[in-house]
Amino acid sequence: MPEFSHAISFVEEMAPFVRLCWDMGWNEANGGNVSWRLPTDEITAILRRRFPRAKENPAVPLQRAQPTLDGEYFLVTGSGQFFRHALDHPDEVFGIVQIVNDGTAYRRVWGYAMGGSPTSEFATHLVGHAVRKRVSGGRERVILHCHVPEFIALSFLMPLDSRELTLALWQKMPECIVIFPDGVRVVPPLLPGTVKIAEASAKELEKSRIISWTHHGIFASEESPERVFALVETVEKACAIQRRVLSAGGPQRGIDMSLLSELSENFAQAMVCRPAFLNDA
Ligand code: 13P
Ligand code: ZN
Repeated sequence: MPEFSHAISFVEEMAPFVRLCWDMGWNEANGGNVSWRLPTDEITAILRRRFPRAKENPAVPLQRAQPTLDGEYFLVTGSGQFFRHALDHPDEVFGIVQIVNDGTAYRRVWGYAMGGSPTSEFATHLVGHAVRKRVSGGRERVILHCHVPEFIALSFLMPLDSRELTLALWQKMPECIVIFPDGVRVVPPLLPGTVKIAEASAKELEKSRIISWTHHGIFASEESPERVFALVETVEKACAIQRRVLSAGGPQRGIDMSLLSELSENFAQAMVCRPAFLNDA
């Protein structure tokens, strides 16, 4: 990872991962976005210490209210910003906003130096945070959306079915069932940036940390920048193997279902839940 320092420790931690996503070929131009639900005490202490004279910005109404996120602070990429610029122009690429007015609006508290605003997918990020904060008991804090090529390719090659996609990926690498036992949930093709895609995503995020925006990309939730990156990296690797197997004429065999069962028994401690699609048809 490149050397990088910043007055805000959360930017210092996040920016190198954002740049790495571009290096991986996951986030061309302004493609993709990321948000981090920050620990309130830490971020308010940093803002008070580093930016004591910051003025209060006006409240901007949200597309969809999120009362359970009222008061929360988010580090979030700006709409139209390039992941490639994360290390060179962090104060333009990122901003910090606070959710206010009972979850009906946000206020910019830092960043978007060139006058930007949060990602056009902010509605889905917020509903994703609301759902995953509740489901994970507060553990998950970071949501990453990338235009991962192998993952997207599979949405043109395979049925748009969560179980079929998940089993195909689990059967490609033994690690997969351990790393994403909750599977990948497919959201049908919907217009990006709309409340409709936010609501369809929320439904699938009740069951899994990872969703597929069909023909568009991945949307994943985890505890930290490092962990969400690792999750996307593992899914994308399995998709690459699956795509190669399909390109070579389709699988002659897959990792046996009984081996998947044994893996899920032996590594139960390391898994976030019981494997969703192992037994239920
Ligand atoms: P933003 O630049 O608004 O974040 O949009 C990028 C994107 O990937 C939309 O899905
Ligand atoms: Zn996108």
